[in-house]
Amino acid sequence: MCYLRSMVKPVVEIRRPRGDEWERILDVLKTANFHRIGGTEMPEFPLSDCFVALVGGRVIGVAGYRILDETTAKTTLLAVDPANRSLCVGTDLHRTRMDFLRQRGVRTLYTNTDDDRVVNWYIRHFGYRKTGDLIPKTEPFGRADRDHWINLRVDL
Ligand SMILES: CC(C)(COP(=O)(O)OP(=O)(O)OC[C@H]1O[C@@H](n2cnc3c(N)ncnc32)[C@H](O)[C@@H]1OP(=O)(O)O)[C@@H](O)C(=O)NCCC(=O)NCCS
Repeated sequence: MCYLRSMVKPVVEIRRPRGDEWERILDVLKTANFHRIGGTEMPEFPLSDCFVALVGGRVIGVAGYRILDETTAKTTLLAVDPANRSLCVGTDLHRTRMDFLRQRGVRTLYTNTDDDRVVNWYIRHFGYRKTGDLIPKTEPFGRADRDHWINLRVDL
């Protein structure tokens, strides 16, 4: 399905971010209420550990990760500007970080999300399973109507 939708999407570039793109990255994160970097939910979001998606030179999506040990990693934030959603940009970003982590030797990847549609998206398209863990949020972050994260896991 994403393949068909991708035939109508604009040309999307996926690459590592530049330092001068930080403010625009924050704007994209803000659309998902993911922008409060430095708090307890997301103490840091290093640009060295993320990928961005651009259309016409403008950042429209971002995806981060954190390597926990030699074989384990966790995704951090993933957001696509609402004006550009459902065009497979999220799929491209997530595949890019999964491929990178696999090549680094990571074998187990954890992801937290607070949205049931996103949970189903990870399960259907990327082979994730729910671990059964629900992680309480420590401050407002993401969906305002959800007070916990649903923990997912996939083998790379
Ligand atoms: C999840 C997200 C990154 C997907 O980005 P995207 O570019 O629209 O993704 P794609 O086009 O590759 O895929 C769209 C899929 O997302 C699903 N989806 C989940 N939430 C959605 C939403 N709020 N709006 C539209 N589609 C949504 C659709 O069902 C669709 O699934 P399908 O391919 O099976 O039909 C984007 O909806 C987003 O930024 N959401 C808010 C932040 C968030 O929840 N991030 C994930 C944190 S782990």
